[in-house]
Amino acid sequence: MSEEHTAGEQRGTVLNGHEQDADDNEYATPPEVWRPLDRAVDGFDLDPCSGAEPVPIAPTRYTKEDDGLRQKWHGAVWMNPPWSSNGDGSAKEDWLRKARNEAARDAVDVVVGILPVDASANWFHEHVLKADAVCLCDRRYPFIGQDRNPSFSLVVFAFGAVDGELLDAMDALGSVLLDGDRHDPAPQTTLGGVADGA
Ligand SMILES: C[S@@+](CC[C@H](N)C(=O)[O-])C[C@H]1O[C@@H](n2cnc3c(N)ncnc32)[C@H](O)[C@@H]1O
Repeated sequence: MSEEHTAGEQRGTVLNGHEQDADDNEYATPPEVWRPLDRAVDGFDLDPCSGAEPVPIAPTRYTKEDDGLRQKWHGAVWMNPPWSSNGDGSAKEDWLRKARNEAARDAVDVVVGILPVDASANWFHEHVLKADAVCLCDRRYPFIGQDRNPSFSLVVFAFGAVDGELLDAMDALGSVLLDGDRHDPAPQTTLGGVADGA
């Protein structure tokens, strides 16, 4: 990779026309997004990527210094991870992998997360769309600490135990897709080795 390319990545990435600083992850989720989800899970227990929020979202919080990626998670988890660190999309990938691994542990009930919609990204297809419930938000939310006129929309996703209350709360934010079902371009319609009409 050329030095010029590396410097450009460190300066920031453009997300649907929205310039992101590679090192600036200090923006907080708007309350109108996290509060209804919080109520639906009877209160989040853990926010493993915290620091920027003006009001605590969960009683247990891990900051950058704690490194939430290296901790064990528990209960109902709220995850708005760093969007742009590592200078590329790999931070999102790391947090999504961690969320899926943690959601598979008995100690974790559900991980509810948000990220910007980016259907051109590998992490979006390989992780977000495989969540137990996915909500494509039907409006744009200004983030606390970021510009007031975002040009991207949000996806809310949940890995783990998704009950009716959580589904209702997600549904109020946009369109909900369930269980990661997607079109299979090569479905098996015949038994192996048996040709049609044989
Ligand atoms: C997008 S903000 C979300 C803040 C808050 N959880 C919310 O939803 O409003 C991501 C936060 O994660 C913090 N962070 C970055 N790396 C982290 C790490 N390895 N472990 C825990 N937190 C981290 C950042 O400092 C930042 O405050």
